[in-house]
Amino acid sequence: MSSHVATRSGDVPRYSANERVTHWIVAITFLLLAASGLAFFHPAFWFLTNLLGGGVWARILHPFIGVVMFVFFALMAMRYWKENVIQSYDREWKKRLSDVINNRDHNLPEIDKYNFGQKQLFWVMIVTMALLLVSGVMLWRPYFADAFAIPLIRIAAVVHAASAFILIVGIVVHIYAGIFWVRGSLRAMTRGTVSTAWARHHHPLWFRRITGGR
Ligand code: HEM
Repeated sequence: MSSHVATRSGDVPRYSANERVTHWIVAITFLLLAASGLAFFHPAFWFLTNLLGGGVWARILHPFIGVVMFVFFALMAMRYWKENVIQSYDREWKKRLSDVINNRDHNLPEIDKYNFGQKQLFWVMIVTMALLLVSGVMLWRPYFADAFAIPLIRIAAVVHAASAFILIVGIVVHIYAGIFWVRGSLRAMTRGTVSTAWARHHHPLWFRRITGGR
């Protein structure tokens, strides 16, 4: 990242085109998986199989789309894990949660590229994605399920549903925060940049780090 780009245009680069394409592939595959998964879970959601061409196609495609989501998420995880390691200032930030909720941001300690909530959700994504992959493979007929005993497959079904539930709740929070709560974040994942004011206000350590302290 060139610091000159940031200061000259007033925009601060946050995600490259490559990173954004990866993120939106994960987001689209996630929505298709959540919709078809809910349809398999309860008949009230069966109509959602239409998104994938009906019940039979949804059943065939769901696991393949799951692998695509896992692979692209793994690329994101490898890229972002270091920036999501929880630091001492994050623990301080967490202690002032009432200031976060009441928008008293001036009372908060300075943080780097991600806040404590984002970091926590990042690790929840890692664990649930891994559980979804392993349990999903165990449930995958006709290719892999035959290799596992029936009680194991039943445990896998519970693990699959429970981790999907946790991930869906987490992503609802992620979408709410990215679009409504922290205004000005969405353009980071659409245009690739944030405003200088946004960067300075929400992520001062990150802003100083990438602009060389200016
Ligand atoms: C479908 C709608 C979605 C929207 C509107 C959305 C929005 C956003 C936005 C605005 C950011 C930038 C936040 C920032 O830089 O501070 C972001 C980052 C990110 N998103 Fe999404 N997202 C969506 C779906 C997903 C899904 C389904 C996943 C994974 C399962 C995901 C994983 C991530 C990750 C890992 C980051 C990097 C930030 C971090 O490590 O916390 N997103 N998203």
